[in-house]
Amino acid sequence: MIELHKPVMLNEALNYLKIKENGIYIDCTFGTGGHSQNILTKLKNDKSAQEIVKNKEIFNSPQFQLISDNFANLEKHLESLKIKEIDGFLFDLGLSSSQLDAESRGFSYRLNSPLDMRMNQENKLQVEEIINNYSQEKLADIFYHYGEERKALGIIASCFPKKGNKHPARKAFQALRIYLNRELENLTHALEIAVKHLAPGGKMVVISYHSLEDRIVKQTFKEYNAVEDFQLICKKPSVPDPTEIKKNYRAHSAKMRVLERIK
Ligand SMILES: C[S@@+](CC[C@H](N)C(=O)[O-])C[C@H]1O[C@@H](n2cnc3c(N)ncnc32)[C@H](O)[C@@H]1O
Repeated sequence: MIELHKPVMLNEALNYLKIKENGIYIDCTFGTGGHSQNILTKLKNDKSAQEIVKNKEIFNSPQFQLISDNFANLEKHLESLKIKEIDGFLFDLGLSSSQLDAESRGFSYRLNSPLDMRMNQENKLQVEEIINNYSQEKLADIFYHYGEERKALGIIASCFPKKGNKHPARKAFQALRIYLNRELENLTHALEIAVKHLAPGGKMVVISYHSLEDRIVKQTFKEYNAVEDFQLICKKPSVPDPTEIKKNYRAHSAKMRVLERIK
């Protein structure tokens, strides 16, 4: 069954963004719109919060615009919208529950489905082709670099003890997905563009779900923190409280980092 995606660390994201009624906000990872709808309720508008969060109502709001593209192409869209300064960016990385649970997308190692894993279904290359055609060395390289899989040269299931509830192919799936979708390259690029367009007082909130992504966010924010126009909001990342993890296990690995442009 496809579970409805629950936005992760929603209250924390809204608190850190400190939404201004007339501000301009970009949710770089719209997904199923959970965070976006709630951002919209904080903007000046003639609809009540309940009306906005009602199914699909967000699409009828004149204050909302959906652009379907990879966030790596952010610059191009800001240029065509003629927007230079943004009051807040949100990146909620990883996959939404609906992507993970959709059998045809092939993201989940728990489902017996074709190995597709394309975030953008218009792209041609699928994981199936990579698995069937890449050399053993190249595959081991992908597992090692994008899955931090130390046993990259073995046959996955036979390398692991049977005990424990972690699936043996967990890291290999992560690696293939990251490699196929160029996720780390896109993230690095998008963060650079977003920081460049932050308005004074603007905030950038990033939620990541694994160490490779978090490392990029941490490093980028650290570099900007050293520049006097920016400051890191809290040195350590925020994590969801146990009640949220209980209600939504997907949140368990979330780490939130926040950067502010102070002038
Ligand atoms: C967790 S979902 C966002 C969910 C959304 N916040 C909500 O509440 O419905 C993340 C989305 O960003 C996309 N995404 C994540 N990392 C990406 C990357 N590095 N490059 C491109 N798209 C990415 C995924 O395909 C997915 O649609």
